Amino acid sequence: MSNVQVMDHPLIQHKISYIRREDVGSRDFRAVVGEIAALMCYEATRDLKLKNVKITTPICEMTGKELSGKKMAVVPILRAGIGMVDGILNMIPAAKVGHIGLYRDPQTFEPVEYYCKLPADCDEREVFVVDPMLATGGSSVAAIRMLKDKGVKNIRFMCIIAAPEGVERMKREHPDVDLYIGALDDHLNEQKYIVPGLGDAGDRIFGTK
Ligand code: URA
Repeated sequence: MSNVQVMDHPLIQHKISYIRREDVGSRDFRAVVGEIAALMCYEATRDLKLKNVKITTPICEMTGKELSGKKMAVVPILRAGIGMVDGILNMIPAAKVGHIGLYRDPQTFEPVEYYCKLPADCDEREVFVVDPMLATGGSSVAAIRMLKDKGVKNIRFMCIIAAPEGVERMKREHPDVDLYIGALDDHLNEQKYIVPGLGDAGDRIFGTK
C-alpha cells in the first residue's frame, strides 16, 4: 500500500499559499516552486540509509555518516515538472535527471509518450518522479508505468498540490509508490483543474499565459 505523506512543514505551507495567489508573476512563481521542491525533497529523503565513514578533520579523526543507499535520479514529467528539478538538485547535486513527455490523445484521452530520456543506469537508482500538480493522475500513472516497463523498481512521486481523485488513482494503480504531497486540495472541476489549486502550473512557471 502506498505511503502517502502530506507535508505539514510550516515553510512548505507558507510558500504554497504564496504561489496560489493569482497576482504572483512567473519570476516569483518559478523561484518559490524551486524552494518548495527543495524543502519537500529534504522531508522526503528522511529515510535514506547512512553508513559510518572514517574522516579526518583539521583537528582529529572521527567517524562520520554518509549516504549508503542507491544513487538517485529525478524524473520530471514535462513540462511543469521541470520547475521542480533545480530545487531538488540543490539538495542532491549528484542526482541524474531523466525526462518524460506525455500528451493526451484527443480521441482516446489516454496519455501517449512523445519523449523519454533516462539515465542509463536508471533501473539501479532511487527515482523521484516529479510534477507540481497531481490532478486526474493520468500522466503520473502513465509515466510511472513507463519507468517500470524499463525496469525501474524504486520509485517515489512528489507533487506540490494533489486532488483526492489523483491520489486515489495512484494508490490503486501503483500501490508500491510512495507519494509526497505539499497540499491535498478539495476536488477537480469540469476542466480537470484542481480546486482551489493554483491554475496551470506550466503556464505560471514558464509565463506562457
Ligand atoms: N495541471 C495544472 O497545471 N493545474 C491543475 O489544476 C491541474 C493539472
